[in-house]
Amino acid sequence: MSPTKIVLVALLAGLVLTFTIAAIDSAGGDLAQTSTAIYETRTPSGQGTGKFYMGREIADVMSHRRMSRLDRPEREREERTDLLVAALPLEKDYDVADIGAGIGYFSFRVAKRVPDGVVHAVDIQQEMLDEIERRKHKNRVDNVRTLLGRIDNPGLSAQSVDLIFIVDSYHEFSHPREMGEAMYEALRPGGHLIVVEDRAEDTSRPWGTLHKLSETQARKEITVLGFDWLRTESFLPQQHFLVFQRPASH
Ligand SMILES: C[S@@+](CC[C@H](N)C(=O)[O-])C[C@H]1O[C@@H](n2cnc3c(N)ncnc32)[C@H](O)[C@@H]1O
Repeated sequence: MSPTKIVLVALLAGLVLTFTIAAIDSAGGDLAQTSTAIYETRTPSGQGTGKFYMGREIADVMSHRRMSRLDRPEREREERTDLLVAALPLEKDYDVADIGAGIGYFSFRVAKRVPDGVVHAVDIQQEMLDEIERRKHKNRVDNVRTLLGRIDNPGLSAQSVDLIFIVDSYHEFSHPREMGEAMYEALRPGGHLIVVEDRAEDTSRPWGTLHKLSETQARKEITVLGFDWLRTESFLPQQHFLVFQRPASH
């Protein structure tokens, strides 16, 4: 090889190496940004995790040791859970998911509204699901199925449910973005996502602020996933009832 050719080959090799390193750098930078930009860590407040998502501090998960409060006798009167169940847009044959089901307070009530369908009761605490299984057996209910979810994925199959509802649980999701993406995938196109959360705007009940959500925050977090916001209903005494939809065409 002539000296000129050797110089040219060396220059070319140098250029290829420079571009390769730049490409690796920029891919690495993007990856780092993707995994860190979604969540932020700050000093935790009381009942908080110190993990922030879209400006909101994520709350601690309610322990199964406190499960009895989920079916305290005054709950129906205080929260009008009867109105909540009646307002869910359901058909008799719908397959439904109750995410953050706890002891299945809502799963069992909703199961009666979908006698030809199924309610998947999803929770990350096996103790909660064990309690659901006990109640299922005792009451001979055959259309509630328990499912142990991961903190970042409820484990539902793609396009397997017509409606997902989340009551008093969304604010506890440690990975709301990943959970939201998985819920979007699990819903059939045109399916509804119902989010029920204590109203953060309500200053007459200032306690437990992290266990609440404002309408603005909820809409911001859910629409970023690709859901359409349809309406926010205010018929419940303490909670927002937000209705979202996976677009029919996606
Ligand atoms: C306050 S309880 C509400 C239970 C039920 N929805 C009710 O209203 O009776 C919140 C539940 O959400 C569950 N949870 C928290 N993060 C979760 C996640 N990523 N996936 C599924 N369940 C979750 C907790 O284990 C807990 O049982």
